[in-house]
Amino acid sequence: MAPDFITVATFLGMVDTAQLRNTPARLAVEVCDWLTPAVDLSLLRHQPTLVGQGVRLEPLGPQHFDGLRSLFVGEAPGPLAVALADQVKLGLAVAKERPDRADWAIVTTADGHVVGEVVLFSLDADHDSMEFRIALSGPERFDLGYGSEATLLVRDFAFGPLGLRRLTLEVAASNARARKVYDRAGFVVEGVRRAVRLVDGIWDDVVDMALLSSDPRP
Ligand SMILES: CC(C)(COP(=O)(O)OP(=O)(O)OC[C@H]1O[C@@H](n2cnc3c(N)ncnc32)[C@H](O)[C@@H]1OP(=O)(O)O)[C@@H](O)C(=O)NCCC(=O)NCCS
Repeated sequence: MAPDFITVATFLGMVDTAQLRNTPARLAVEVCDWLTPAVDLSLLRHQPTLVGQGVRLEPLGPQHFDGLRSLFVGEAPGPLAVALADQVKLGLAVAKERPDRADWAIVTTADGHVVGEVVLFSLDADHDSMEFRIALSGPERFDLGYGSEATLLVRDFAFGPLGLRRLTLEVAASNARARKVYDRAGFVVEGVRRAVRLVDGIWDDVVDMALLSSDPRP
């Protein structure tokens, strides 16, 4: 009888036998996952514009820098801010071609103002998973529905054409506004990491949330 993969691998010292007990099936499944990725990577390299009622999400580029300046470099003048702005513009020039993430500018459909950014990042292509984050450019943009609509547009793209199985995010426990947006989009709390960040002098928890392709999407 021909030796199987595990016998040979163990013999060669490639693997820890204890870890491999009862694992041939699991190995086979993982190899299979890797060989048959569900994510359409071409849609990360060339992410489409996603169009909603109040906002459209445009692939992020140098043309969005001014509208997102407050997020990228803040408003403070000075040589450090200039250097940082130059660095960010270099990144923006290649952002929309990156094969491992998708960055969008949130632009109002009514008047074309750039009001924020939304990002899919940390691609785990072997397990069809990514992380989500969103930020509007300032408090004057909050509570107008932009964040909710952008989140739903990216969620539906992620589980539709892109083919993700799992989308994760983290949010400060004290960020009630963001948590409302994520709850409304169907994200489920998976855990709480206690006292992670100092916010206004108080240690705040971080909430881990995720949405699976099989979860209900309100
Ligand atoms: C979080 C963020 C993306 C949400 O976008 P937004 O456009 O402000 O959100 P929306 O207007 O779509 O929805 C906000 C909802 O929260 C509600 N809300 C606002 N403050 C609240 C509070 N303190 N407690 C509970 N709900 C609150 C609003 O009333 C609104 O609900 P409604 O639509 O039922 O009226 C945006 O506020 C932002 O960029 N914040 C700063 C960055 C940030 O926190 N990013 C998330 C990091 S995880």
